[in-house]
Amino acid sequence: MIGRLNHVAIAVPDLATASNTYSSTLGAKVSEPEDLPEHGVSVVFVELPNTKIELLHPLGDNSPIAKYLDKNTSGGMHHVCYEVEDILAARDQLVADGAKILGDGEPKIGAHGKPVLFLSPKDFCGTLVEIEQV
Ligand code: CO
Repeated sequence: MIGRLNHVAIAVPDLATASNTYSSTLGAKVSEPEDLPEHGVSVVFVELPNTKIELLHPLGDNSPIAKYLDKNTSGGMHHVCYEVEDILAARDQLVADGAKILGDGEPKIGAHGKPVLFLSPKDFCGTLVEIEQV
């Protein structure tokens, strides 16, 4: 069902420091920070030859990553995103297999303008999984 790894998202307590770590220390190509108010995050996109890293920092009062950073004060891996061809077909198959879809179970438009869903970490080895239709 799943295809390519689209991105790994890392929650960070300081976006400028994290961006500098990836650009200077690790020598990666990083974007300017972007605020995504509808997702409650500011993000820096790190472009790697085979995938992307997203550095996420909370934006606004109800950021979905605020609690994560409360527990993981130096930051940490927040989720992985796998590509699927048909998100509704993928969702229906996952639900049929007993997986729990977070939220209302309907795809939302994600940070790249494409439909996404999040799956409960309980069903996937303790890792929050995002699927994105490409
Ligand atoms: Co993501």
